[in-house]
Amino acid sequence: MQKLEVFGAFKLKGQVRISGSKNASLPILAGSLLSNKKIVLKNLPKVKDIETMLSLLKSLGSKIKISDNQVTIDNSNQNKKFASYNLVKTMRAGILVLGPLLAKFGYAKVSLPGGCAIGTRPIDIHLKALSKLGVKFKIYNGYVIAKASKGLIGNTIKFPKLSVGATENLIIAACLAKGTTFLLNCAIEPEIKDLVNFLIKTGCKIKWVAKRKIKITGVSELKETNYSVMFDRIEAGTYLVAAAVTEGKIKIQNIKPDIINTELNILKKIGSKITIKKNEVQITGSKQIKSLKIKTAPYPGFPTDLQAQLMVLLCKANKNSIIQENIFENRFMHVAELNRMGAKILTRGNKAIIKGGINFAPAELMATDLRASVSLILAALTAKGKSVINRIYHLDRGYENIESKLRKVGAKIRRLN
Ligand code: EPZ
Repeated sequence: MQKLEVFGAFKLKGQVRISGSKNASLPILAGSLLSNKKIVLKNLPKVKDIETMLSLLKSLGSKIKISDNQVTIDNSNQNKKFASYNLVKTMRAGILVLGPLLAKFGYAKVSLPGGCAIGTRPIDIHLKALSKLGVKFKIYNGYVIAKASKGLIGNTIKFPKLSVGATENLIIAACLAKGTTFLLNCAIEPEIKDLVNFLIKTGCKIKWVAKRKIKITGVSELKETNYSVMFDRIEAGTYLVAAAVTEGKIKIQNIKPDIINTELNILKKIGSKITIKKNEVQITGSKQIKSLKIKTAPYPGFPTDLQAQLMVLLCKANKNSIIQENIFENRFMHVAELNRMGAKILTRGNKAIIKGGINFAPAELMATDLRASVSLILAALTAKGKSVINRIYHLDRGYENIESKLRKVGAKIRRLN
């Protein structure tokens, strides 16, 4: 099992180029199943989850060609409708192939994704909404067996609560449904907008008719498409926090700053100095970090995927802070490990009370989920001495070349086999 060795404490200085978004790439790759024409995707991040999704597409019969900066997908002979457990279990977003397979074939057998460290991750909202398009399904042997004998029929569907994955699955499914579909109470994360922009480019008829309402008119023919995926806003936020927590000075490049407005305003409030340019942001961390009371929320609120990273920063604030996690039921797995480094964080239900004024001590650590593992690196960067982080396969699911990007800005970090 690989591990990371980090020597702190050094101020990070320099430039970081942000990779493509994992959470935009995954639904776009699933959406590519709708088309029988050649699709070329650029700026896909080189991370494990993308490799897994490409393997899943190959298992469904897609022909995939990977070159250095692009992936070419040919689904002209894609005819399999079975997404196996061994692929979906490691990457829950595999459930996103359910919508396109049903749209194309009226049948799909997809492994239930199962839970993960941060929560049970049910898919009831996906299934209930798909049934409104005429899908009948049963759960058997850990699989969803879904059928739409007359094909998908457009309908008006209101999601009972905001769900990124369910919104994505339904948008993709409705693109080939007969007639028109209105989806209400949609999640509006930037990755969903990126998915919609991609689908429109392939010839799908999609229009945002209100903030959380989308109109989709089914089509039958799609076009050859070239598309470049948006930047990873969570990776960008992670490096912004890395600069803030090490009192460093970093330029984050290849981003659209307006998409991370909420995060930038929070970092300014905490005391970081932020300069915004067209496709980059420069951040200078301050000695004085102000405490905060904050809740995670669906976009445009503060993203749950940055909660663990912000918690590390708030450990160094001048007073106590509170973070309330409103999206997932078990997303404080990083707290125990941070407390082993000297943090004093108390969790009460979905609230974490974070004592300020902490100096992290180095330690041997265990990663538990993707974003928790990166928070351990952030803490280790500020701890004087050597820390070792185990089970970094969690990290490799969503951060491209993290140790080389950090080394480039002065971190003393290396991967040990
Ligand atoms: C997406 O997960 C992201 N994953 C997550 O990022 C992100 O944290 C999450 O959205 C929230 O922004 C990808 O895009 C691949 P949801 P998703 O459906 O779609 C409950 C990362 O670190 N729910 O918006 O699974 C669910 O349990 C990952 O990159 C139901 O109850 O999130 C959760 O509590 C982690 N029933 C809440 O809704 C359902 O049918 C939000 O989930 C679906 C979801």
